[in-house]
Amino acid sequence: MKVIRKIAEMQSMSKSLQKSGKTIGFVPTMGFLHEGHLSLIREARRKADTVVVSIFINPTQFAPGEDLDKYPRDFQRDENLCHDEGVDIIFYPDAREMYSSSFKTFVVTNELSTKLCGISRPTHFRGVATIVAKLFNIVKPDFAVFGQKDAQQSLIIRKMVADLNFETEIIVAPIIREKDGLAMSSRNKFLSPAQRKDALIIFNSLKMAEKMISGGEQVANIIKQAIHDNFHKVASAKIDYISIVDFEKLNAVETITGNTLIAIAAYFGETRLIDNIIIK
Ligand code: PAF
Repeated sequence: MKVIRKIAEMQSMSKSLQKSGKTIGFVPTMGFLHEGHLSLIREARRKADTVVVSIFINPTQFAPGEDLDKYPRDFQRDENLCHDEGVDIIFYPDAREMYSSSFKTFVVTNELSTKLCGISRPTHFRGVATIVAKLFNIVKPDFAVFGQKDAQQSLIIRKMVADLNFETEIIVAPIIREKDGLAMSSRNKFLSPAQRKDALIIFNSLKMAEKMISGGEQVANIIKQAIHDNFHKVASAKIDYISIVDFEKLNAVETITGNTLIAIAAYFGETRLIDNIIIK
């Protein structure tokens, strides 16, 4: 396994892989890998000749005051995990390599990026789309694997790829959960034992919503209210949003008919967690 830190080296490696007819599967990450990331890497490993994982904590997707500085980091551990999963290349640039001091160009996916997480994090998806576009131009992957936990992110990336004619296929892999249902996230590490227990309210609420729908409930507001009421059981939780939206444009729906995303973001102390289910 090779660790590449320079853009030019990664680009020439990708070009020579392409020339020799090898497919490149790519998993972009911010490191501190968990089972969720590993499931994406395994998906890439099953399908590609060469698997590239990027590890880069992207400053432009954090607003001032968010958790950029305390975002967990452990490159040695990540490197070992990648090695064990048969990753071929880790692309591990630093911030100066990715963003020169004169950097001025951003990718904005209008409308999709101002809803759900975009309301409390208005510049977040601009940072995500920009770094993913840069990474695609550097790694030149045939396909890239993203996790369904970041459902809005995956929709925005798909839209960016279609609108800007990237030749990378986007694969979205299912959410990986802890045994008790909590969606895996690098931020779970910040939860105190009490908050960790309280955080289960997110998954429980999503399951409750799913059960209401399979029992015939179709009115989005009734389901939303039930989720709100459920959250009242947990004092430490602060809801950021509960959204029931169509899983294409992310517009709020009144009744649940087509592909619907039920997404929740909530704070437990200072830790913000997201989770979702898709109702088909
Ligand atoms: O999902 C993430 O970890 C990040 O948003 C990504 C896609 C690696 C871009 O920094």
